[in-house]
Amino acid sequence: MSPRANADRRFAAALIRWQRQHGRHDLPWQGTRDPYRVWLSEIMLQQTQVSTVLGYYDRFLTRFPDVHALAAATPDDVMALWSGLGYYSRARNLHRCAQTVVEVHGGVFPGTAAELERLPGIGASTAAAIAAFCFGERISIVDGNVRRVLGRLLAFEGDLSSAAAQRELWARAQALLPVAPSHADMVAYTQGLMDLGAGLCARSRPECGRCPAADLCLAHRQGLEDRYPVKSRRAIRRHESWWLLVLRSSAAEGARIWLERRPARGIWAGLHCVPVTLDEPAALALAGPAADTAQPLPSFTHALTHKELRLQPLLVDGVPEATYAHLQDGAWVAPDDLEKIGLPAPVRSLLTQLAG
Ligand code: ADE
Repeated sequence: MSPRANADRRFAAALIRWQRQHGRHDLPWQGTRDPYRVWLSEIMLQQTQVSTVLGYYDRFLTRFPDVHALAAATPDDVMALWSGLGYYSRARNLHRCAQTVVEVHGGVFPGTAAELERLPGIGASTAAAIAAFCFGERISIVDGNVRRVLGRLLAFEGDLSSAAAQRELWARAQALLPVAPSHADMVAYTQGLMDLGAGLCARSRPECGRCPAADLCLAHRQGLEDRYPVKSRRAIRRHESWWLLVLRSSAAEGARIWLERRPARGIWAGLHCVPVTLDEPAALALAGPAADTAQPLPSFTHALTHKELRLQPLLVDGVPEATYAHLQDGAWVAPDDLEKIGLPAPVRSLLTQLAG
């Protein structure tokens, strides 16, 4: 065996042993081979930390215990339970995926990564995670954390902002998989990659002294952990200011809030929201005859992956609803009904503070 192939074999064995001894074993989506539960966790965990997902996962499963229940839900029910997790296209795809599994696959998730990847919202790495955890398929995940782990392990020189280098790393990841693994081996190996990426092999100051693969890691052996993975293009966060027009009717009319549906694409797509404008005159124009009484509330920022939003709320309070007959494509929503619908998290907290 070549030295490299030998190192590949030792990596899988070391990772599996380490995961069994030191990895995570008590997350609520572990210990099940039910694809519905594993799929739900993997979608929630895309771009969202474990600590945040923990608060949502059980609640979601209580409301939608299986794929049939989720497929039969209304989009608003799904959005309401997702509200606060962000990246709402995930929730829309989740719902479409459940409907596809029920309508096309008789309610049973397909049993291979290749078939899973054809479903809405399931990318290659998520398909691999579900197939490895639920079916023991010999296939590697390669999400952002795993790219860092493997980028360092292999001192991989390809620029991972290019799709070609990502494909090449995936091929290397496949070569690292354990040979003829049992189902339990694939579970431990896959979880081990995730645990290493989320823990010891952190972006900054990795804890190589405790890493099961330190002696095999080509970056560590050269003291070059910070150089890998190579990524030339960095996401640049742009700044944008948004005005949020909060129209609240009088107490006699129930202190209802005017909400509109966000467009199907873009930020907060498909959620309910107070009217958003890109400058103050546009917000005042929407307030119509009530514009004179608009009061600015404290502004705050909200960070998205590629954008930082400065949100400036303008409140127009206690004006009769009939004043706004010029507004269309929206509805007055009573305070008690707000929790039942999908709202962007910062808008929800703004409206909660106003009600309190
Ligand atoms: N991140 C993505 N999938 C995960 C999982 N199954 N456990 C912990 N973190 C994860």
